[in-house]
Amino acid sequence: MSVDATPQSIVDKARILFAASFQHKPTVHAVVPGRVNLIGDHVDYNAGIVLPFAIERFTAVAVARNNRLASRVASDLEDGIIELGPDYLTAESPHGWTRYMSGTIREMTARFAAVPSVDVAIASNLPVGAGLSSSAALCGAIAIALAKLIGAPPELIPLAMLCQVVEHTDAGVRCGIMDQIAVLGARQNCLLQIDCRDLSVEHVPMADPRIGLMVIDSGVTHELAASEYGLRRSQCESAVQKLGVGSLRECTLEDLESQQHQLTDVELRRAVHVVTEIRRTELAVQACRTSNWVGLGRLLAASHESLRDLYQVSCQELDLLVSLAGGLDGVYGCRMTGGGFGGSVIAVVDRMETSTIEVALKKEYHKQTGIATNVFLTRPAAGGIDLSDHVF
Ligand code: GLA
Repeated sequence: MSVDATPQSIVDKARILFAASFQHKPTVHAVVPGRVNLIGDHVDYNAGIVLPFAIERFTAVAVARNNRLASRVASDLEDGIIELGPDYLTAESPHGWTRYMSGTIREMTARFAAVPSVDVAIASNLPVGAGLSSSAALCGAIAIALAKLIGAPPELIPLAMLCQVVEHTDAGVRCGIMDQIAVLGARQNCLLQIDCRDLSVEHVPMADPRIGLMVIDSGVTHELAASEYGLRRSQCESAVQKLGVGSLRECTLEDLESQQHQLTDVELRRAVHVVTEIRRTELAVQACRTSNWVGLGRLLAASHESLRDLYQVSCQELDLLVSLAGGLDGVYGCRMTGGGFGGSVIAVVDRMETSTIEVALKKEYHKQTGIATNVFLTRPAAGGIDLSDHVF
């Protein structure tokens, strides 16, 4: 599939796959992008502030009632049709990603109205396993399509929270709320400033034609990502409890210094990352609003160092990409993005220099790791809720 496809063309693919797989026509569809976090990682579950944007890579679903006992799914990533048997609401699914479908159906039924058996076709040009929130996009697309089917309101925060529950319950990942709000609530040419304390969202314009947003996939996903993620959350929770605060959002660096005897060394490092990362994110919002790209670049570099040294969620490949990018002309700043232990890095670059940067990065990364990396430029894209109004 072409990587530069539009949301409409991904919807068309899902519809064609639907017709070919189920021999009838879809009645509703939805299309949801992936996301990159510009800055503010591992702070969403600490009531912090994050600054993600949606990327021009999408997952679309086409859906219709099927008047059968069981729902069925076809995907362009896998041959054949998968039938979700009558007991699928409780059974462990053999096809990992169908958990998002059964989980979303269960949660929609619990909150809104019974979801009938459906046929679903899925098409996507969003890479899986690159740390770009392909699961949040899939879950979000199913949720919007089912909301249309049963007449439930497509409201951002309730749908994002529903998708987060599915991620916790069905995929077993205790994620924060950033990815779900980003992929559903993004606006074209804007970053989303999400305050995870009260779930308020502000759209920060990001459309300077001189600036390119470059996503570079390290090509690795380390096994320990999920367990280490859970461990980081527990370490933060333990720090919060010992400090006697509601969340790390309430702490300043001075508080941490004066209370450090209460914490283990590891808890202190985690807390210092969170407190400083929230501050960096606030400063990054100002830098973007004033087109201070050099200032933004410094914040990205400091964020990466903190994630690497204090939060310890980076890995060799991500560090290599960040240091290679840091040495190139035309790169304002670069950092790992998302949960870490593999996945992608985000670089803010001079648009005129993008081809030179891409060629140099690919060559040197391949030379040092043997991995052929995938690099793409993206503008901040519209999120699933905006797209559901515009794409037919
Ligand atoms: C993953 C989680 C998010 C967030 C990031 C780190 O993407 O799904 O909720 O915690 O990691 O910022």
